Amino acid sequence: MSKRIVVITGSPRKNGNSFAMTDAFIRAAEDRGHTVTRFDAAMKNVGGCHACETCFKTGKACSFDDDFNVIAPAIQEADVVVFTMPVYWYSLPAQIKGVIDRLFSFCVAGKDVAGKECALITCCEEDDMSVMDGVRIPVERSAALLKWKMVGEVLVPGVLNAGDIEKTDGCSQAAALAEKI
Ligand SMILES: Cc1cc2nc3c(=O)[nH]c(=O)nc-3n(C[C@H](O)[C@H](O)[C@H](O)COP(=O)(O)O)c2cc1C
Repeated sequence: MSKRIVVITGSPRKNGNSFAMTDAFIRAAEDRGHTVTRFDAAMKNVGGCHACETCFKTGKACSFDDDFNVIAPAIQEADVVVFTMPVYWYSLPAQIKGVIDRLFSFCVAGKDVAGKECALITCCEEDDMSVMDGVRIPVERSAALLKWKMVGEVLVPGVLNAGDIEKTDGCSQAAALAEKI
């Protein structure tokens, strides 16, 4: 079955490791007949949540109008949401954290976004897999709260410089993730 997939990236490096895996995933997903809409959060204007709780009261998801208001309707319509990002300081890059914080708008406004599939692609410099807990756990718990089902994770340690991902099986893992959707 063809599904609508929204991919949200968090790296500012267009030639970087998570983008290479993102591209591999998208190619594989499109080859399988899925429709993919991609948002590169680092190249968009998405600020943090103001916690004003006026979500969806102005006709848009967020009263503070920026690119989240383009991403939000795409998420609402999607069957699958895929987050891709590197680890920054044992946590999520600020560029994508704004998008994730503002998923709060769906909760505040009581929007029914349950039942989606969710997946994660991430990487980091250090060899220790637990370094990616700072990304993996928030994504898993946020998905659980939104009643999204985690269908797969690609977690690649040991990649620092752009291109290092080619020395790993990260891109093949990312392509294989498309088979889980
Ligand atoms: C601001 C910043 C913070 C980082 N923090 C960590 C970290 O805490 N642990 C780690 O293993 N790698 C860290 N890294 C390295 C990146 O996770 C790594 O280079 C990754 O491959 C970058 O992915 P990208 O090419 O998709 O941007 C950091 C990199 C930057 C630029």
